[in-house]
Amino acid sequence: MSPASAFPVAFVDVAREFAVPKTRGGASAHSRLVLRDVTLEIAAGEVVAILGASGCGKSTLLRIAGGLDSPSTGATTIDGSAVTGVDARCAVGFQEPRLLPWRTLAGNVALGLPRGLDREARDERVTRLLDLVGLSASAGLRPREVSGGMAQRASLARALARNPGVLLLDEPFGALDALTRLKMQDLLLEVHRAAPTTILLVTHDVDEALQLADRIILLGAEEGRPGATIRRVLTVPGSRPRDRGSAELAELRAELLDLLGVDRHGHARGIPASSTIPAFPS
Ligand SMILES: Nc1ncnc2c1ncn2[C@@H]1O[C@H](COP(=O)(O)OP(=O)(O)OP(=O)(O)O)[C@@H](O)[C@H]1O
Ligand SMILES: [Mg+2]
Repeated sequence: MSPASAFPVAFVDVAREFAVPKTRGGASAHSRLVLRDVTLEIAAGEVVAILGASGCGKSTLLRIAGGLDSPSTGATTIDGSAVTGVDARCAVGFQEPRLLPWRTLAGNVALGLPRGLDREARDERVTRLLDLVGLSASAGLRPREVSGGMAQRASLARALARNPGVLLLDEPFGALDALTRLKMQDLLLEVHRAAPTTILLVTHDVDEALQLADRIILLGAEEGRPGATIRRVLTVPGSRPRDRGSAELAELRAELLDLLGVDRHGHARGIPASSTIPAFPS
């Protein structure tokens, strides 16, 4: 892979509120603050994981970074210049692969290429990307003919096709089984080594964040205040790939789970330990 020029990203005092329409016979139209006071600088080539409870605004923040959404107040910059609309310096990867079913994997990867490349350069780039994600032998298959993990690898290759300066990933491995997920994490590290682009990764998986990120950003609301903001920024020690079983990471994991309101045994606080799902009547 030719090295991407990785770009720094900055959020400056970003807030986002959404209009809530009037409900029939209920509340009048109003707006709801989802994010507030988000200020963060991300260095070129850095991998930052965003963790937080469901609905706290992680995807919204990622969309704002890529210009798919805009902040109500504040600003985002990439490489020092403002993001004003869908930004060509970013590529986005989602939880589901979003491949076109009538195109082969190679054809789907080619969709991510920049315009203006001649045929030979296009073919060469697609071949290299498929090789990078271990899909060379499956280039001619269509999405329905491959596994979920293979489809997600093709989706990652498509996102990388443009050599993006910023890669935005929204729970990219969230729909995969545990083993495939671990393999995809290793693959992402390999990809980052080969082309060290800046990565913003939204995940629900604390271990994934600890394995992949330089820093972990915890988004959440403060008691009594509307809107989520950055509650904590944690620097993950050690160079990648990290020992998944290290005591240092175990300590950080416990701290993160605690901040997320989950105890070390995996119980969400506030839900009685004795709560059970009622059995089906026999
Ligand atoms: N276009 C929109 N219009 C109105 N409300 C929106 C819009 N986009 C997001 N929201 C609201 O903003 C809040 C945050 O949504 P967001 O998708 O960013 O959460 P999230 O942290 O990514 O959640 P999850 O972990 O479940 O994916 C939610 O309450 C959602 O309903
Ligand atoms: Mg989300």
